[in-house]
Amino acid sequence: MLGIETSCDETGVGIVRGTELLANVIASSMDEHARYGGVVPEIAARAHLEALEPTIRAALAEAGVTLAELDAVAVTSGPGLGGALMVGVGAAKALAIALDKPFYAVNHLVGHVGADLLRDDAGDAPLELPTIALLVSGGHTSLLHVRSLTDDVELLGETIDDAAGEAFDKVARLLGLPYPGGPQIDRAAAEGDPRAVRFPRGLSLPKDLERHRCDFSFSGLKTAVARHVEALRDAGEEVPVADIAASFREAVADVLTAKAIAACRDLRVPRLLLGGGVVANARVRALAAERAEAAGVALRIPPLSLCTDNGAMIAAIAAQRIMAGHGPSDLGVGADSTLPV
Ligand code: KG4
Ligand code: ZN
Repeated sequence: MLGIETSCDETGVGIVRGTELLANVIASSMDEHARYGGVVPEIAARAHLEALEPTIRAALAEAGVTLAELDAVAVTSGPGLGGALMVGVGAAKALAIALDKPFYAVNHLVGHVGADLLRDDAGDAPLELPTIALLVSGGHTSLLHVRSLTDDVELLGETIDDAAGEAFDKVARLLGLPYPGGPQIDRAAAEGDPRAVRFPRGLSLPKDLERHRCDFSFSGLKTAVARHVEALRDAGEEVPVADIAASFREAVADVLTAKAIAACRDLRVPRLLLGGGVVANARVRALAAERAEAAGVALRIPPLSLCTDNGAMIAAIAAQRIMAGHGPSDLGVGADSTLPV
C-alpha cells in the first residue's frame, strides 16, 4: 500500500505491508514558509506539486518495490489546506487509474492514530482499542475517542481557535525566536522558571468545562503573552525570554494533558495515544507521562518520525480497511478541507 499525505507543508509518501513499514519519505516546504512565520497555503500547494513525483520515487526505492508491485494507493483527503490536499488527491487518483489499482481516501486525523501501528520497537505490545488520542500539531489540536481504526472514531473536542503548534510558532515570533517556534521555545524553556508567570489555561474554568470539556483555546494565551511582553518593553525592562517561554510551555502542556487525562477518566478508557509534531515537546511528554501514571492510564507515544505528518500512517489506515474487508473509496471522492472523522 502506497500512501500520500499533502494536507499541510509536508509532502509525505509511505509504503507499508499491513503494519510493516517499508518506506517513509518526507519532503518539507518548511524553509519556504519560514520568512512568513507560518505555513502559506499557496506556497505549500506549489511545493507539493514539485516534490510529489521525486518523493514517490524515493519511497519506491526505499521499499525496493516497483509501481507495478503496489496493491493499492491511499491518500489524505482531508482535513487540511484545500489546495495542498488537492495535489495529493489528484496524484493518488492518477496513479490508481494508471496502474488499475484500488484507491483509498483516508482522514488525516485517523491517519495520526494509525501511525502507532507501524512502530517496530521490539517487544512492544500492539495498540489496544478503545483509546483516547490527543493529536497536536501546527494545524490541529484534537481529542478523539477511537473504538475502531476503520469505522468508529469520535471527535470529542478540538481547538476553537489556534492549534497548539500555531500558538508555539506565534509566541516564538513575539519573543524574537525563529520559525518553527516549537523547538525554539522548548529549548529556551529548559533554562527558565515555569512558575515565573501564571498564564491562562484556555477553556478550563468551571463555566467553560460544561460546554467545552474536551475543547481547547490558545488565542487568549497568546494574547496574554503578547500583553506581558508589551508591558515589559513599555516599562523599559528586559524581556526574560527563558522564563516566559517556560511559563507559556507550562500553560500549554498543563491544559493539553489535563483535558486528555480527564477524557480518559470520563469515558473510562485507560489508554492515551499522542500524535502530531507538538509531541516532540519535552514538557508535554513529561507531564503526560506523570499524569497518565497517576491516573492509571497507559500512555503511548509513537516515534517522532511517525508523529509528524507522513504518508506511511495514511497507508497503514488504508491497509486496515482492506484487512477489515472494506472496499475501496469511490474515485469521485475529492479533497475536503473540513472532512470530519
Ligand atoms: O506535525 P507537524 O510536523 O506539522 C504540521 O503541523 O502539520 O507539527 C509542526 C508543529 C509546529 O507548529 C512546530 O512549532 C511544533 O509542531 N513543534 C513543537 C515542537 N517541535 C515541533 N511544539 C512544541 N515543542 C516542540 N518541541
Ligand atoms: Zn497532522
